[in-house]
Amino acid sequence: MIELKNVKKSYVKKRKQIEVLNGVSYKFKANTFYYINGKSGAGKSTVIQMLGLLLKIDDGAILLKGKDTSKLRENEKAEIRNKEIGFIFQSYYLNPYMTAIENVMLPTYVDNDMTDSERTKKAGKLLQQVGLETRAEHYPKELSGGEQQRVAIARALINNPNIILADEPTGSLDPENEEEILKYLKRLRDLGKCVIVVSHSKAPENYADIILKIENHNIVEVKK
Ligand SMILES: Nc1ncnc2c1ncn2[C@@H]1O[C@H](COP(=O)(O)OP(=O)(O)O)[C@@H](O)[C@H]1O
Ligand SMILES: [Mg+2]
Repeated sequence: MIELKNVKKSYVKKRKQIEVLNGVSYKFKANTFYYINGKSGAGKSTVIQMLGLLLKIDDGAILLKGKDTSKLRENEKAEIRNKEIGFIFQSYYLNPYMTAIENVMLPTYVDNDMTDSERTKKAGKLLQQVGLETRAEHYPKELSGGEQQRVAIARALINNPNIILADEPTGSLDPENEEEILKYLKRLRDLGKCVIVVSHSKAPENYADIILKIENHNIVEVKK
């Protein structure tokens, strides 16, 4: 589905070089829940941004469905992100001035062929799938953290992406809500998606098919 091929990445800050990844190769497959663990500063967010084609890499390649993405123009990358990738972040990033259903509908506006009733229908269905059909007209501030993250999951799914990238998706939640969000993410893997969760929390271990660790500037598999 998505593959890192000898990827190197470092940042330069105040003339100091911060090495994050030094020649990482890994193939992420469909229908699999990956959990990538790593200490704070290990490079978890960097990996998510790279896989989401949001970050320039120094060397190597990122292949999406076997195709090298390094030569793509920004607008081509944006199109791939919109169609193929759903993002979920720790801080939800919902628009505070939009209702739950409006937030979920937002990514559909890149598709001009879709009618408003189609958008509403699709978003309503997704809200139902995350158990929020009675909250469609609520604004983010009227929702709990767990509910907001479920809205964000519905939004991430609206263009039916094959890849779900989640950066500390339960970082702001209590253990009960954490388990619930992880259950929803597991369900997406059951639908055939490639789900990649990076977190410093141990909880995703119980839901993941494959556990990985960022260590010594590399990504390695950990035995379950
Ligand atoms: N834009 C940036 N500029 C400079 N250094 C950065 C930048 N982003 C991240 N870093 C550094 O790269 C390392 C990895 O960061 P990050 O991927 O955010 O780690 P994690 O998500 O695992 O906590 C850290 O040492 C961090 O300080
Ligand atoms: Mg991070």
